[in-house]
Amino acid sequence: MRRTLIAGNWKMNGSLESIGELMDGIKAGLAEVTNADMAVCPPAIYLMKVKSHIGDAAIGLGSQNICDQESGAFTGELAPAMLKEAGCKYAIIGHSERRSLYGESDDLVARRFAMAVASGVTPILCIGETLEERESGVTEQVVSRQLDAVIDTQGIDAIGQCVIAYEPVWAIGTGKTASPEQAQAVHAFIRSKLAALSVDVADKVQILYGGSMNAANAAELLSQPDIDGGLIGGASLKAADFLAIGKAA
Ligand code: PGA
Repeated sequence: MRRTLIAGNWKMNGSLESIGELMDGIKAGLAEVTNADMAVCPPAIYLMKVKSHIGDAAIGLGSQNICDQESGAFTGELAPAMLKEAGCKYAIIGHSERRSLYGESDDLVARRFAMAVASGVTPILCIGETLEERESGVTEQVVSRQLDAVIDTQGIDAIGQCVIAYEPVWAIGTGKTASPEQAQAVHAFIRSKLAALSVDVADKVQILYGGSMNAANAAELLSQPDIDGGLIGGASLKAADFLAIGKAA
């Protein structure tokens, strides 16, 4: 049985003051979330501060990226060992904003993935098609290509050590959620693709949905058989909304 994971991607939002309030709010309602694991992925500069807010509460910490190198002359990057030191369990990798706004290729994403796994940080590997790709009927080819970049270099067993987040780009931050049926169809496709290589890996890997998931639509999305949680952007910035998604699981 796969456990549900609700992870908040705060993106480039927050301040020292607001993250304190947000964490207090999440911790205050956490006991009511019984069917899901919760995690937060703050901007890198706040990771250690958020870790101290978490204390011994059952909230996982994640970064929004991870370097494909161990250390050295890589200005602006975050070393895996630093993220471990800061208490990160997860690292979001290959978010569509990184891919489209900062030019991260499938190959670079695969290298970041490899470094995360080698360092004991669980990648949350983001994949998903643009609106144009969906409308031209190539959604499955796109998510296949993004997955193959990792599988071909790291092997199928590495996928067993990650979390996948299917995030249709047209649904991110747009308020336009994929319908439960649309999302389930792609999740089922991803799982069947993995099952062709390893039934074990396909059975155990958590596949999250991301893209305008909120308190109102979470229950229906999370009730789909192949949707194992959510990667939440906007709705993770308000404790009540984030907790409501956790409770919907
Ligand atoms: P959103 O973002 O929930 O604001 O659509 C999701 C994401 O980009 O991870």
